Parts: sequence; structure tokens; C-alpha cells
Amino acid sequence: MRIVVFTGAGVSAESGIKTFRDENGLWEGHDVMEVASPQGFHNDPELVLDFYNQRRAQLNEVDPNPAHIAIARLESHYDVTVVTQNVDDLHERAGSSDVVHLHGELKKARSSGNEEFLIEIEGDIKLGEVCPQGFQLRPHVVWFGEAVPMMQRAAEIVSSAELLLVVGTSLQVYPAAGLIDYAPGDCRCIYVDPRPQISFELQRRPHEVIAENAGTGVPQIVEELLP
Ligand code: APR
Repeated sequence: MRIVVFTGAGVSAESGIKTFRDENGLWEGHDVMEVASPQGFHNDPELVLDFYNQRRAQLNEVDPNPAHIAIARLESHYDVTVVTQNVDDLHERAGSSDVVHLHGELKKARSSGNEEFLIEIEGDIKLGEVCPQGFQLRPHVVWFGEAVPMMQRAAEIVSSAELLLVVGTSLQVYPAAGLIDYAPGDCRCIYVDPRPQISFELQRRPHEVIAENAGTGVPQIVEELLP
């Protein structure tokens, strides 16, 4: 069976990474446009670099939770791709081998002037750190108002699903939330979220809702799916 797992911030919540739109969300104290838009970066690059440097440093203090681990276990019996909106690396660290990051990755930096230049990083991106062409490095994160280059690949992946497992996402942010529409009509769809928000795309297709935290709901489903 071909399983596509589509995750959002909620899958990492129990690891200690704050979600975006829950109370005490990551954006608290920060206007979204200030830290997650090209304009924000132009206005105050140091603030934006520092914000993502903190997010990257936090990765050293968190671990995959039972949801990430259960998702990785599916690979023992199924053909699985994870499409995540998250910029953390917890799916990979849990053992998932095929992970597509729709909104980029904290552990990569790219040039703000040369699209080709992309490097892996562990530590901070500093103001003045530039690519060989002299453009400032920036986080490899898709900001508001920017294109989502992985969208087409993700749509193709979702269109191959026999089971779509949607975990921990408010389904508010497009184009990502629109991915559900690409699943074939007969694809089984399960949505795990303690505060599920039934988007238009979900309303249009049969789906099962498991209104539980990912760390509880996902291992239960995986247990049922594995022989
Ligand atoms: N387990 C599962 N889901 C949870 C948990 C949990 N323990 N805790 C919270 N959630 C759910 C919330 O109910 C909510 O539906 O996670 C979801 C988080 O929603 P958002 O904060 O909107 O995160 P997400 O859907 O990933 O946001 C999409 O928006 O800001 C952009 O680029 C950013 O990738 C992000 C995108």
C-alpha cells in the first residue's frame, strides 16, 4: 500500500516545538510579517536571522516523539512518503527515509541572490555571511508571499496515495492545504488533530477524524495498519 503522510506543526508539538496558530504559538511577540516575509528580512535581516538561528538551535534540545517514530515504522511494511510543512528534522531523526519539506529546512541556508546556492548548516547564519557571488545567506525557509517550489512534487506524491494520513495541521495555509485535493477519489483519508479544522478540501471527500494528540492518535493508527 502506498501511504502519504502530510504533517504540520502539531506533529512536533509534543517534542516541545511550538505550533504557529495555537495559543502561545511561535509567532507570539513577533508579527509574522516581521520574521517570515521577504519584506521583514529586508527591513531587519539581523532580527530574522536571529529568529531562525534560535529555531535551529532548539533542534538540539528536542527529540522525535511517538508520532514521528510511529510514522517511520510504517516503512517496514508500506511504501511511505512524508510531506511535511515543518522545517524541523524530526521525521528524519525518527527514521523516515523519504521526507519532502514543503516549507524548507532549518538546517539549510541559501543565498538571497542566487537560487542555486544551497548548503547544509548546523550553527548560526550571521549577517555578512555571503555566498560566493556576495549575496547574504538566508534561512532555507519559504516565507509568506514566496513561491513553494516543492508544491508540484508534493502534489504528484499525494496523487499516488492509497492512504493519506494528515497529522497536526490547521489546514489554513495555502497552497499546502490544497494538497488534499490531489489525493485520488478512492484514497482513504485520516486526519489526526486534537482541534481538527475541516477544510473545504476535507469536506469534499470522505475522511476519518481522530481528535487526539499526534503522540497518542498516530501510534494507534499505525498499530492498526501494521500486520
Ligand atoms: N498533536 C497533533 N496536533 C496538534 C497538537 C498535538 N499534540 N497540538 C496542536 N496540534 C494542532 C493544532 O490543533 C493545529 O490544528 O496542530 C495544528 C497546528 O496548526 P498551525 O499552527 O497552523 O501549523 P501548520 O498547520 O503546520 O501551519 C502551516 O503555516 O506559518 C506557516 O509555514 C508555516 O508550515 C507552517 C504553515
